[in-house]
Amino acid sequence: MEIVRDVRELQRLADADRAGGRRIALVPTMGALHAGHLALVGEARRRAEVVCVSIYVNPTQFGAGEDLDAYPRPLEADLANCREAGVDRVFLPDDAALYPPGAQTAVEVVELAKPLCGRSRPVHFRGVATVVTKLLVAARPQLVVFGRKDFQQLALIRRLVRDLGFAVEVVGVPTVRERDGVALSSRNLLLDPASRREAVVLVRALDAAGGAVAAGERRAAALLALARAELAKAPHADVDYVELRDPESLEPTPERLSGPALLALAVRFPAKPGSGAPNVRLIDNRVLLEDRP
Ligand code: PAJ
Repeated sequence: MEIVRDVRELQRLADADRAGGRRIALVPTMGALHAGHLALVGEARRRAEVVCVSIYVNPTQFGAGEDLDAYPRPLEADLANCREAGVDRVFLPDDAALYPPGAQTAVEVVELAKPLCGRSRPVHFRGVATVVTKLLVAARPQLVVFGRKDFQQLALIRRLVRDLGFAVEVVGVPTVRERDGVALSSRNLLLDPASRREAVVLVRALDAAGGAVAAGERRAAALLALARAELAKAPHADVDYVELRDPESLEPTPERLSGPALLALAVRFPAKPGSGAPNVRLIDNRVLLEDRP
């Protein structure tokens, strides 16, 4: 497994792969890898000859109140996980490699960055779009893999790739979950024990709405009410949003659903003492009526 820190070096390796007819898949991450990230690596492994994982905690996607310094950086464990998962290349840039001194260029996906998580994290998606653009330029992949857990991020990257004309296929991988259904996230470890037990209400809210849709319910307000009723069963849950939106444009859905609709949730729970944050914000989502045109 190669470890590459320099953008030019990564580009040179990618050019050699491309010249040799080898397909490159990039998996962008911020490290602290868990089974969710490794599912993306597995998908990349199945689809490409060369799997490149980037590990970079991107400062520009953290807001002022969000603790960039507290983000976990277990590099040795991450590298061991990558090796075991059959990763060929790890891109480990430092800040100066991706943001040269004096850097002032940013990428903004204007409308998709506004709703849902964009409302409480106003600079977040601009940072994500900027760093992913840089990673695509550096790694020159034919394929880039993201988790559907961060659905708004995935939608925004699809738009970015189309808008900027990157010749790269964007692949979305289903959310990997804990045994009780809670979506895997490094943030789960920051929850106090009572909140961790209550976190299951997110997936229950998705299940409740999904079950109602399967039984024929199409009224958006009724589906949102069902999801909210599940979330209300957790005494410590502080709901940030519960919304139904078009999975591509992220515009609000019509009052009566007639095609695929993203049900997206964000909920804050108290963090455990000493974790460095007052609360932990969890997100989850499901596309309802996904198989309908
Ligand atoms: P990070 O939070 O490290 O996530 C890296 C990738 O793993 C993302 O595509 C995310 O959707 C995916 N992922 C996280 N948890 C998952 C789960 N339980 N199941 C499936 N996939 C999961 O997302 C970022 O980093 C950054 O914003 C990044 C894209 C790297 C840009 O800095």
